[in-house]
Amino acid sequence: MSAAQSEPTGPDLTQGVAIDTLADGAMLAGHVGEDTILLVRRGNAFFAIGATCTHYNGPLAEGLLVDDTVRCPWHHACFSLQTGEALHAPALAPVACWSTEQRDSKIYVREKVERTPRIRVTPRPDSPQKIVIVGGGAAGFAAAEMLRRQRYQSSIVMLSDDAAPPVDRPNLSKDYLAGTAPEEWVPLRDDAFYTGQRIDLRLKTTVNAIDTSKRELTIGDGSKITYDRLLLATGAEPVRLPLPGMDLPHVHTLRTLADSRAIIAQAAKTRSAVVMGASFIGLEVAASLRGRGIEVHVVAPEKRPMERVLGAQMGDFVRSLHEEHGVIFHLEDTATAIDATRVTLKSGGTIEADLVVVGVGVRPRLQLAQAAGLAIDRGVTVNEFLETSAPDVYAAGDIARWPDAHGGAAIRVEHWVVAERQGQTAALNMLGGRQRFDAVPFFWSQHYDVPINYVGHAEGWDEITVDGDIAKRDCIVRYMSNGRALAVASIYRDLESLEAEAAMERSHAGNLGH
Ligand SMILES: Cc1cc2nc3c(=O)[nH]c(=O)nc-3n(C[C@H](O)[C@H](O)[C@H](O)COP(=O)(O)OP(=O)(O)OC[C@H]3O[C@@H](n4cnc5c(N)ncnc54)[C@H](O)[C@@H]3O)c2cc1C
Ligand code: FES
Repeated sequence: MSAAQSEPTGPDLTQGVAIDTLADGAMLAGHVGEDTILLVRRGNAFFAIGATCTHYNGPLAEGLLVDDTVRCPWHHACFSLQTGEALHAPALAPVACWSTEQRDSKIYVREKVERTPRIRVTPRPDSPQKIVIVGGGAAGFAAAEMLRRQRYQSSIVMLSDDAAPPVDRPNLSKDYLAGTAPEEWVPLRDDAFYTGQRIDLRLKTTVNAIDTSKRELTIGDGSKITYDRLLLATGAEPVRLPLPGMDLPHVHTLRTLADSRAIIAQAAKTRSAVVMGASFIGLEVAASLRGRGIEVHVVAPEKRPMERVLGAQMGDFVRSLHEEHGVIFHLEDTATAIDATRVTLKSGGTIEADLVVVGVGVRPRLQLAQAAGLAIDRGVTVNEFLETSAPDVYAAGDIARWPDAHGGAAIRVEHWVVAERQGQTAALNMLGGRQRFDAVPFFWSQHYDVPINYVGHAEGWDEITVDGDIAKRDCIVRYMSNGRALAVASIYRDLESLEAEAAMERSHAGNLGH
């Protein structure tokens, strides 16, 4: 999966395509000049939009048509056929639209046209004058972007204690860390975006307290900021281990751009590294360090990597995939100490290490919400509209525990796309909308050239079914409970993953009586 720009392919759509060759629901990739275009038939209507996803350039022609949207096969972004708008993250920018003309039993694609995104919330007289967002990550950024997309004109203040503007965090353990993506790909937008969109982004600014009765925040220098609506999107922080040596300079956790830069700087002087934790982030780091030619040891207490989330068979596959790339596992083991050159294991051995990356999970950053007296239940409790227990205070992303429409339970997840989509829904609701957050959870993880996509949410299951062959990297794995698929993981079965997501959406719509 790369962000390389695709070459125009397929027929020249200005020459026309015979209508009877396009069945209802057909998607055809072609081109107009240098532009790759997706031509779609829905009934007797035809749509022509850019064929390349604005997230990482996924091929939309290989995606799924759902009503008047097309879904990207790679990370499930959703684009409107009518306007090209990126309706659902992770894509945030629209694809272009072209006009079409039917003549002599053919459909022709004509010129590029400007289409404005549909306004989803009608402006109200009591619209907020000032929206404050705490957090410059996935949820915070997507909320600010959506507020302006909805043509909200008043003040947006975004406060982040990070030194970097919002970044493409998933990239920090993948291509950027592996050295295959340049740093200019990492910021979600350049500085000019914030100025142009009048988003008052204040970096290195810590929010210390919230007074929900006065609608006021206290920031690090003691000054106060008032709000009409507040979005809390403070994310999560890496868990640190209570180990001797954890504070040594070659021992790192990974959450921010600064963390990833520091690991890269140390990797340049490293022959052998220890990664603690066989979770998604730990193993993505292992893959990226192997890409830099470093010897990598993974130390983790579990029997199989990722078994708790993906089950035993996928866990065994992930282990063998990493072993094929030279990773050495020390499973059912933990570290007892780190010194300047070695990690000591509970089992008694030692591993030489010039770099140690601790990826043993994250903890949601709940302190602010807790001190402000918001309802907390292993996360900030929100309702389906992402409202917290305090008036006009919303929460989104890694901190939010929301009622999941599909499974019925209140859940909290740590997924990029969920955080962005929650930010988008919270933005609409802060403007007076009443949109339920009912998106099906989705995440992806990338190990070498193998992407794993996951839709739904399963904390347990009574059966796992596998279509295809996991070892051959061609499978769809269903996590079943009482005959119902709670979640579906897949490798190179992108269309089926999208179909599973669409089926789960339809089943919620049924549950909610939509
Ligand atoms: C290296 C890495 C790789 C990942 N890869 C994937 C992946 O492949 N797929 C996937 O689905 N998910 C992935 N994730 C998880 C995903 O990045 C998170 O789920 C997502 O970033 C959560 O978004 P958020 O907005 O809730 O929090 P964050 O993106 O963490 O943003 C939180 C923001 O709040 C700020 N903040 C916190 N407290 C305060 C305060 N008191 N005052 C001011 N600012 C504050 C922080 O500085 C930060 O700007 C990855 C995470 C990491 C670290
Ligand atoms: S490339 Fe389309 S969603 Fe990522």
